[in-house]
Amino acid sequence: MRITVLGSAAGGGFPQWNCNCANCAGVRSGRVRAKARTQSSIFVRPDDAADGVLFNASPDILEQIRSHPALQPARALRDTAIAGVVLMDGQVDHATGLFMLRERSSPLPLWCTDPVEDDLMQGNPVLRVLSHFCGVRRQRIALDGTPFGVPGVAGLAFKAMPLSSKAAPYSPHREAPVPGDNIGMTLVDSGRRTSVFYAPGLGAITPPVFDAMASADVVMVDGTFWTDDEMKSLGLGNKSARDIGHLPQSGAGGMLEWLARLPARTRRLLIHINNTNPILDEDSPQRAELQRAGVEVCEDGMSIEV
Ligand code: MLT
Ligand code: MN
Ligand code: ZN
Repeated sequence: MRITVLGSAAGGGFPQWNCNCANCAGVRSGRVRAKARTQSSIFVRPDDAADGVLFNASPDILEQIRSHPALQPARALRDTAIAGVVLMDGQVDHATGLFMLRERSSPLPLWCTDPVEDDLMQGNPVLRVLSHFCGVRRQRIALDGTPFGVPGVAGLAFKAMPLSSKAAPYSPHREAPVPGDNIGMTLVDSGRRTSVFYAPGLGAITPPVFDAMASADVVMVDGTFWTDDEMKSLGLGNKSARDIGHLPQSGAGGMLEWLARLPARTRRLLIHINNTNPILDEDSPQRAELQRAGVEVCEDGMSIEV
């Protein structure tokens, strides 16, 4: 399979429109060596196939499609390479791009869990709004790992697992999570016998999550924050990374410790990176630490063959 990173930033993107933190101000002025990034989304397709699956629909989707002409082939007057959309959660950065797909000429095939469907019907009723446009053909993602496929995308199967993270602020269970608010996904290429574990929002690594990571050839996991108190220490809020469902990279029990325990052959990538995270600065000591640990930082446009 081939994965194209359409957007590697967390909610807000990088630089964030109203932010003057060292990274955002630095990338705008050119004083910090860093690459701008759009909000969290990947496109996955079988080798040599035109059509594939969009994981998450970012508010930046139109820009992402324009940057990747392969997503908009010209086999008909109206055309798209997006055979279906799979959501990892119902947060703004992963779901509001669905509005931009409303000009489809047929209902949008959409896979999500029951709690995410509820949130997108009630708190942030994207799916109800879309019913006035192309409509949505929603399919349920099971949490027991039953594999599913997307019609038109041969040879790829997807297996979900519930994760400990957070539902969106408009969810009735924001502070009392239910299984399926957030999921991780194993993407399997049955022909190549390869797999990827994808989890852009991951708050805690439980034994089943670690097993899924250790069984994959490639992991693409939560790279939101470097430290647990990153937002607090910059004066940008009171919540810790863990409070909002993101395991920080550094410190005891952090993501880097877990990644170090994976088999040597595993390719390790961080995705969904917040604009405050020092790893965005390519000259930072934190970035050098990742390099020494063999951990890559996703950037927009990156292509990963597995
Ligand atoms: C998250 O991943 O915590 C959310 O997407 C934050 C946001 O709403 O931007
Ligand atoms: Mn997010
Ligand atoms: Zn910033």
